[in-house]
Amino acid sequence: MKGAKITAIGAYVPARRLTNHDLEQIVDTDDEWIVQRTGIRERRISREDEYTSDLCAAAVLDLMNRYGKSVQDVDMILVATSTPDFSFPSVASILQNRLGIPATAGAIDMSAACAGFVYALHTAHAYVASGLHRKVLVVGADALSKITDYTDRSTCILFGDGAGAVLVESDAQQDSFTGFHMGSDGSGAHHVYRTNLSHKVNEVDLIDTGKLVQNGREVFRWAVRTVPQGVQQVLNNAGASMEQVDWFIPHSANLRMIEPICERMNYPFEQALYSLEYFGNTSAASIPLALDLGVREGKVVNGQQVLLYGFGAGLTHAGLLMKLALDPEVSRPAPL
Ligand code: UT7
Repeated sequence: MKGAKITAIGAYVPARRLTNHDLEQIVDTDDEWIVQRTGIRERRISREDEYTSDLCAAAVLDLMNRYGKSVQDVDMILVATSTPDFSFPSVASILQNRLGIPATAGAIDMSAACAGFVYALHTAHAYVASGLHRKVLVVGADALSKITDYTDRSTCILFGDGAGAVLVESDAQQDSFTGFHMGSDGSGAHHVYRTNLSHKVNEVDLIDTGKLVQNGREVFRWAVRTVPQGVQQVLNNAGASMEQVDWFIPHSANLRMIEPICERMNYPFEQALYSLEYFGNTSAASIPLALDLGVREGKVVNGQQVLLYGFGAGLTHAGLLMKLALDPEVSRPAPL
């Protein structure tokens, strides 16, 4: 039986900060409302000429520098994103050429919104543990500022841009990934979307502005109900209990969602990691960014059990339990 593990991690966020006070100048909102209702203080916004592929490349370079890793032997590239540079070619294909990964590697983008990174990690594990691939590059990245409606105060306060990357490699000794669960409920597909086509889903007319549209209350209610049940499924699959989980990393949508989710699971909130306070909701990047922050701060260390749970448009959700087994860092990371 072959196994897989994450051997290296890297992250990137754009330099430009958009604070709550900046947003007060743009829409009818205030810092107090945003902090109390979401926990978000600021987010990073990409330059006009900076796209998702640029965020991905920077995150992978951070990974390579920190862990002294080469990508010459990567044989599959998976990019989870809802904001690809183009409909096609994929961000993964652009990344292959840009990073000098051999053209013999496979390259695909995966679309599962804020659950995308965990879906991609599931896929990477399946590829590596089955023996089909040996070294898979997984990136979760989004440039949500490109599709955010900065006249809509209920959404523009939430979103930011960023990328997180990991390498999943084979492990002859053991499998670090021990529990999985995923799902998708298309009956809620009209609750969060982006389109520029005049089209219906679930008999609902979509708003075709090309900007992100969200019924925040519906998604909030669905996630607070669904995530604890999904986490239990991951634990059942692993034959583990929540007491064995050192860190819980849910998608960083809103701090006011993470609190009731932890409460319902009877899990200490202090052991939940999130990236939303200074980066906002970065969709597919939020979970790898939170994991990366935990590693940078020295909180998350090898041997610990980490439970990831993504959720978002679709409505999709996915979780997994893994034991951290990173290679040693060769250089200290620069602060994000
Ligand atoms: O990542 C993908 C998955 N997405 C999510 O998980 C998002 C889940 N939802 C949420 O995070 C929250 O629902 C929001 C942050 C989007 C909204 O928070 P809420 O506590 O659910 O507010 P609400 O929509 O119930 O609105 C309450 C009030 C409304 O005013 P009235 O109708 O009570 O007068 C809104 O108009 O707050 C108002 N409001 C604001 N006020 C000041 C909405 N946005 C703002 C704002 N500043 N930015």
